[in-house]
Amino acid sequence: MIRCNENYLKLQSFYLFSDIARRVAAFQNEHPEMDIIKLGIGDVTRALPPVCIEAFHKAIDEMAHDSTFKGYGPEQGYDFLREKIAKYDYNARGAEIYPDEVFISDGAKCDTGNFQELFADDIVIAVPDPVYPVYVDTNVMAGRTGTFEHGRYKGLVYLEGTKENGFVPPVPREHVDCIYLCYPNNPTGSVATKEQLRQWVEYAKSEKALILFDAAYAAFIRDDSIPQSIFEIEGAREVAAEFRSYSKTAGFTGTRCAYTVIPKNCMIYDRSGGAHSLHQLWNRRHTTKFNGVSYPVQRAAEAIYIGDGPRQVRSLIDYYMKNAAMIRDRLTQLGYDCTGGTNAPYIWFDAKMDSWEFFDLLLRKAGVVCTPGVGFGRCGEGYIRLSAFNDPQRVSLALDRIASVLGGRS
Ligand code: MLT
Repeated sequence: MIRCNENYLKLQSFYLFSDIARRVAAFQNEHPEMDIIKLGIGDVTRALPPVCIEAFHKAIDEMAHDSTFKGYGPEQGYDFLREKIAKYDYNARGAEIYPDEVFISDGAKCDTGNFQELFADDIVIAVPDPVYPVYVDTNVMAGRTGTFEHGRYKGLVYLEGTKENGFVPPVPREHVDCIYLCYPNNPTGSVATKEQLRQWVEYAKSEKALILFDAAYAAFIRDDSIPQSIFEIEGAREVAAEFRSYSKTAGFTGTRCAYTVIPKNCMIYDRSGGAHSLHQLWNRRHTTKFNGVSYPVQRAAEAIYIGDGPRQVRSLIDYYMKNAAMIRDRLTQLGYDCTGGTNAPYIWFDAKMDSWEFFDLLLRKAGVVCTPGVGFGRCGEGYIRLSAFNDPQRVSLALDRIASVLGGRS
């Protein structure tokens, strides 16, 4: 008898964004005439920057000739891209990272989800609440939690993000072995200061813990005093791995390219306390289970660092950040209390009612898709996330519709 991994039976029936897509599709089916505006999942709407398209075409042409054709590439990624990442994303901001500490992959979602394979079954994991659901669900699948009760999995330590702490939870009083952090934060759009990250690095060092730092939205930081990487903090190389993505930075959600950075001096321990290189373990996994991102995609990603690339990427991000400002201003005028939208493409606000009820209200009455905060955890109940990824005219129209539905409510 083929038996299932019973940990999967502990999961909620649907992944959050699949659930939303399913509900929206059902509604659209019932109301084919309705023009629905999507400010739910953070999916980009603008074309790839011209430098990327040019690099893509050039690389495709190379694939068309035997003399320049590429077969399997290095699983960890081509040096031309790893070198640019180390130099421009890290060294330029004073962070010590070397090209061979970078692993190119097809997505930060996959990397943050797969990374837990390197850990023992019985470690104590801390996740923020609200949280990007991938961190939680993948640990549930691996059997590191108990059942789901009252909106939480037993066995996880939840770091509560609240209005009072600005959705930047402090280090816990208790011991944990692994901490997922995400700044700029998905879903709340909050950012952590250097001092707040320094406290995490100190904590991780003293507890021999590991920080998994998701910096997928680093490119949206506008305030230069806010760290873009955990590796801008002294000592972080020993206790952290970092995940980044070109999805939102350069419009690669459909193109797929991301990377994970693991310093060579970051250690993880066996049951007798023996130290092992996290970098080597991930390298072992990556080379066994992954065959590299395609050559044209890596060339397209490289293009954002050279020539007119940085300017084009900046203007792409500015485009979405103007939407973020528009959303934030309008909701504030309507009397809603907002977080995010200034150093992140997400706006998180107190809806003053049940999250899913608010989702239904916006969908049915305004034809606007949002993400219910409770989908990100118990602390998200009563909150809503709006994404800035859409065209300004559509965002403006969505806000007019939201204002007419909510005008009298706040
Ligand atoms: C989101 O909307 O939270 C993201 O698009 C999800 C993702 O990047 O996987």
